Amino acid sequence: MNKGFLHSLLAALAALAALVPSSQIRAAEEITLYTQRHYEFDESVHRLFTEKTGIVVKVVKAASDELIVRLQEEGANTPADLYMTADGGGLDRAKKAGLLQPFSSKVIEEKVPATLRDPDSEWVALTKRARVLIYSPERVKPGELSTYEDLADPKWRGRLVARSSSNIYNQSLMTTVIEANGAEASGAWAASVRKNMVRPPQGGDRDQIRAVSSGLADVAISNTYYLGLLETSEDQSDRDAAAAVKVFFPNQEGRGAHVNISGAGIVKSSKKAALATQFLEFLLSDEIQSMYTVKTMEYPVSETAKWSETQLKWGKFTADDVAFSVLGDRNAEAVRLFNKAGWE
Ligand code: FE2
Repeated sequence: MNKGFLHSLLAALAALAALVPSSQIRAAEEITLYTQRHYEFDESVHRLFTEKTGIVVKVVKAASDELIVRLQEEGANTPADLYMTADGGGLDRAKKAGLLQPFSSKVIEEKVPATLRDPDSEWVALTKRARVLIYSPERVKPGELSTYEDLADPKWRGRLVARSSSNIYNQSLMTTVIEANGAEASGAWAASVRKNMVRPPQGGDRDQIRAVSSGLADVAISNTYYLGLLETSEDQSDRDAAAAVKVFFPNQEGRGAHVNISGAGIVKSSKKAALATQFLEFLLSDEIQSMYTVKTMEYPVSETAKWSETQLKWGKFTADDVAFSVLGDRNAEAVRLFNKAGWE
């Protein structure tokens, strides 16, 4: 290569560089996300965010309370910028442990109803999930189902399935039962529901739905989106299982069905609050909110995002509007009552 050519090549490159915004030639920016969420779809959302903004999302996955312990141990040295859970109680506990910082965003305030944001702006819900009853229309008569409380009735003996009480979804449901009925009645409720189960708690929500479709049980406690994931599974046996059951939203005459949230907050020591806020705004855009309704089958929190066909088929319902701080505050009590009731 001759010198003249090299010089003109360098000059051309310099001219080109001047045309590229500096944000695009800086080293790739990145944010670190500590998350309890375990859905493949989340990874494609992170890739979309990187394509759009150049910001890379590094992910650490663990249970919500494990992540809280990790944040406490790492203190100001934590690499984490965001803490994300699949449970409103976890967000509340992280806030009360002083692990989050307030953030402000007009976009988020406009998109998300105030009941789905922390009053001190330390976390925001990203999706909603309803914990409902999944039943066999062949073996459960119309009118037999009514409330969570009714699952304690002896008519359900040998007909119920549910996962372990060590699962945060059941613990959060239990906090709402305690809030509505008091500790003593809730402990008795849990003992009777456990007695009505056809087998000791085992597996995840999908396994409870499968137990109903296979004829082992008549009613399961599950989040709706697991039914949606079975409906859209690549596995024919999953699709058959989903086709054999129906959704029932309990407590429609009273406080409403238990709705939990998946959400996130910005870690207190993060120096990247602006990038982290940008990420949250992206997750709350109608584009991504609508994708959740189809891909993870969770409900959107943005009021302008549409429900999926599957969600519309399950139907509109009344949701329990108990404060998410109750889920956090009453968690230890819920665990204690479950243990005492013998619900493993
Ligand atoms: Fe889940």
